[in-house]
Parts: sequence; structure tokens; C-alpha cells
Amino acid sequence: MEPMKLIAGNWKMNGLKASVAELETLVAASVPAGVELLLCPPATLVAGFAAKATGSAVRIGAQDCHRLPSGAHTGDISAEMLADAGATHIIVGHSERRADHGETDEIVRHKAEAARRAGCVAILCVGETLAEREAGRTLAVIAAQLEGSVPPGAKAETLIIAYEPVWAIGTGLTPTAAQVAEVHAAIAGQIGKGIRILYGGSVKPGNAAELMAIPHVDGALVGGASLKAADFLAIAEAAAGAGAGA
Ligand code: PGA
Repeated sequence: MEPMKLIAGNWKMNGLKASVAELETLVAASVPAGVELLLCPPATLVAGFAAKATGSAVRIGAQDCHRLPSGAHTGDISAEMLADAGATHIIVGHSERRADHGETDEIVRHKAEAARRAGCVAILCVGETLAEREAGRTLAVIAAQLEGSVPPGAKAETLIIAYEPVWAIGTGLTPTAAQVAEVHAAIAGQIGKGIRILYGGSVKPGNAAELMAIPHVDGALVGGASLKAADFLAIAEAAAGAGAGA
């Protein structure tokens, strides 16, 4: 039996208190069978959204965490704090954090370990740049990122991988189905253990069905299209139609 498809929304640095209207739409909607919905708003909204989503099928996650549980780290937020606020998942190693904050594979590994320590599932992002793909280095780059950032002893209960080609994020470009299949099969071969693998990068209602039907694609990490509940739900519907739980 295939695992449930996870449709995860990453709001990035978007969303104010008024954006709770989108969450309310998600909470009121019926989540399709075989699909899990997760929304990762900015840290300011995690506690409020988690309270609002209590008792619903929508779970709330965060976008980053510090590796330590507490201490003198002004401006940082620990995995324990996010768990305390109601987060069940924490995205780590997103390419925007790797690029904007110089996060290395080692830092990302520590963050994934922090998420596990706090009782959260880490959604660990990997992906190649366009230059790396054009140089034929995609599989080598992904393999090295996994080698350096997946914590030893990682299990399906504590870790999810998100394959996000950097050149597909926010661009409207997506890899071909064959390219996605090749990378997801390689990731599954390297880490195994039933660890789920999401695809991310310009997932939209119009392309979700095709992407979610690819072998070893266990869900999506959705940026721009997760900001509107209607689009996000349409992606979840497409994932259900693509054979979730079959
Ligand atoms: P996008 O972002 O869906 O807007 O391309 C995906 C992501 O960065 O997680």
C-alpha cells in the first residue's frame, strides 16, 4: 500500500493575522481521502493557526528552527518553541535558507535532529541549481546533500525529504515527469526505510495530478499556490485523484 500523500504549504515570508481566513477555508473543507494537509505559515502565525486548526484535518508546521533548544541566540526560534506553539512539522534546509543564510548540509542536519528532538517531523529540502542540472550533476548533488544532511537513524516517522529543484521554485518551470521520476527513485534508493519524498517547485492545480502520479512522489511542497486555500485544496484533490492510498 502506498503511503498517504502529504500536501504541505510553505507560505514563506507571507501572511498576516488576517490571512487566517485562508486557514478557516481549509479547516472547513473536507480533506480528500488518502491525503494529509499541512500548512507552514511564518513563525508569527504558528500558534494562532495551530489553535484554529485543532480538531481539524489540517496540521500546522514551521519553516525553520535553530539547532539548540534554548539559549543566547537573539532572534532565533527553537524546535521546542515551535512544538510548544503547536507545530507538528518543521521545514529544514530550504534552498532559500541555504542561499540567504549560508546554511550548509551540516547545519541542516543539526536542524533536522532538533526537529526530531522536539517531537516534530523534519521536512528536509534538497535540490540542484540550473547550472548543476545543465552540467549533468543533478544526481551527484542530491546524493551529496542527502549524505551530508540526513541525520543518522532517520525514520519515516521523523523525516520527510522534499526534492525541490532550485530553478523550479517560484519560476513556473517544472522538470519533466521523467526527470522527477529519476531523482525520486535515486533518493528512495539512497535513504529507503519508507521515508516519504515530496516534490516541490511550481506545483499548481494544473500540474499537480501529473506530478503526484509519478512513482516515489509521496506529496508536494507548495509555495505560491498554497497562499490561496482554493488552489491548495485543488492540489490536494489532484493528489487524491493521482492514486493516494491505492
Ligand atoms: P513554489 O515554491 O511552489 O512557489 O515554486 C515551492 C517552495 O519553495 O517550497
